[in-house]
Amino acid sequence: MKIADSILSTGKLTGIDIGIIDSGVGGLSVAQELKILEPNLRLGYIADTALFPYGDKSVEMLIPRMRYFVSLFGEIGTRVVVIACNTASSASLSDLRVHFNDSVRIVGMEPPLKPAAQYSSNGSVAVIATSGTVSGDSLADLKERFASDVAARFIAAPGLADCVERGQMTDTEIDTLIGPIVQEIIEHDVDSVALGCSHYSFLMRRISNKFPANVKFFDAARPVARRAMQLFDEIPKNDIRALNQRNPVNVFLTGSETSFKETVSKLEESGCVLPDVKVKLEKLVVPNA
Ligand code: DGL
Repeated sequence: MKIADSILSTGKLTGIDIGIIDSGVGGLSVAQELKILEPNLRLGYIADTALFPYGDKSVEMLIPRMRYFVSLFGEIGTRVVVIACNTASSASLSDLRVHFNDSVRIVGMEPPLKPAAQYSSNGSVAVIATSGTVSGDSLADLKERFASDVAARFIAAPGLADCVERGQMTDTEIDTLIGPIVQEIIEHDVDSVALGCSHYSFLMRRISNKFPANVKFFDAARPVARRAMQLFDEIPKNDIRALNQRNPVNVFLTGSETSFKETVSKLEESGCVLPDVKVKLEKLVVPNA
């Protein structure tokens, strides 16, 4: 029996063009960019809110969950899946690409260190990310490949993604979390910052004015969406542009529907732009978890 059968039998998970996976609301930043590129896209979004935050979870814990979620999309014929989470991408991307080979094309998310390094005029850049991303091999590898000629500081920001996930972004809370990071940036004269967590997209406007005016921020949501769209366009299929259906993003949650909806509303109230979402399944159960 296919893993997705129980969900399929309810008729709730079908016809998804691109699947997106994150620990919570962060990947909605990628969904929003995809909807800007192609409003007719039918997007499926798995938010593993039961295990949020991913930032402090082990690779051993994240790989099987990512395999399971990608399988769910794969079994209903979705050919492109975005791991819209830097932490999960760092932990599982190479495993997933081998495991699914070409049956599902996987798009990962990594801190945009390359454009940040290219932009810097003084060679002092920073990546702000979760502890998992900061300590993972992928970031060191990224630095080696694309930013070997700059001084790059990898700054862990524990608690910052949680702040977004609660939808609560009071100035006091942000100041407490951001203050030490701003200090480090000033101390090392950093002029270019790569945001290494999809949740931080929703903080951009709120946090950028806390930093010196010459600091430029790079967010990966748009380039990741473009890459996913590129892969989707390579797949032979009926033209979805003819559909003219402005579907909301179909959301599948492992945790509470109420708190997810509350977070989305709070983020919208605070000025963040999110796509329309429709929670399709209150509880997505992860076997053996
Ligand atoms: N959205 C995840 C990322 O991009 C981080 C949030 C979490 O810690 O779960 O890394």
